[in-house]
Amino acid sequence: MNGIRIAPSVIAWDLGDLRGAVEIAVRGRADQVHLDIIDGHFAPNITFGPGTVKALRQRTDLKFDTHLMVENPQAYVDKFLDAGSDIVTFHAEVLNERRFDELFRAVRARGREVGLAVKPETEVPGWALARLDKISTLVIMTVSPGFSGQRMDTAVLPKLQKAREYVDEKGLETDIEVDGGVEPENVREVVRRGGNVMVAGAGVYGTKDPVRAIAALREIAESAGRRR
Ligand code: DX5
Ligand code: ZN
Repeated sequence: MNGIRIAPSVIAWDLGDLRGAVEIAVRGRADQVHLDIIDGHFAPNITFGPGTVKALRQRTDLKFDTHLMVENPQAYVDKFLDAGSDIVTFHAEVLNERRFDELFRAVRARGREVGLAVKPETEVPGWALARLDKISTLVIMTVSPGFSGQRMDTAVLPKLQKAREYVDEKGLETDIEVDGGVEPENVREVVRRGGNVMVAGAGVYGTKDPVRAIAALREIAESAGRRR
């Protein structure tokens, strides 16, 4: 299993100060920044777009983990690649194998990484399992897409564990990212179930000392043994 990575989710910070959110991630030595792109169709909120990602790109070399919660990713993939996204994550719910393959080619042609996300109620589809060797990050959402600050839906944890077993059985390097309600209280369980990339919005930016919160999450995650 790949090492633990911490990905602060900037929508939990003051949205008028995303630059500040990125600076906190840098100071806290986060591994990547999680950028939630929501279009008001796929999920009931609107966040920000490629122009904002591009502006933030000028501020840091930190890896940009761009989570596209949009109905029509085909229309936007190039814009986020141009903006400097390092990982572009698409939702399985709006794809089929043909659409995924097209998006995959677009992202890989630019040398970036492809992620695939599933909502809490969505099983990882067969076409996605068959392509996990091409997917750098499988994102298991543990809240409904839309907003930071929700409680983790622990009913999703068996799906996480199943995904980890599949990845390990096949000897794949796919990262498994857990997105939604990750906090110091549950991060140990998330690691035991097989997550290795921890998205944390409120769990970082909602704390008194967000810089320190990144290290604190990492310490707990790294000390948690995998359950077999
Ligand atoms: C939800 C987003 C999550 C969210 C995480 O639509 O995909 O990334 O911001 O925030 P917390 O950790 O507060 O649930
Ligand atoms: Zn997200």
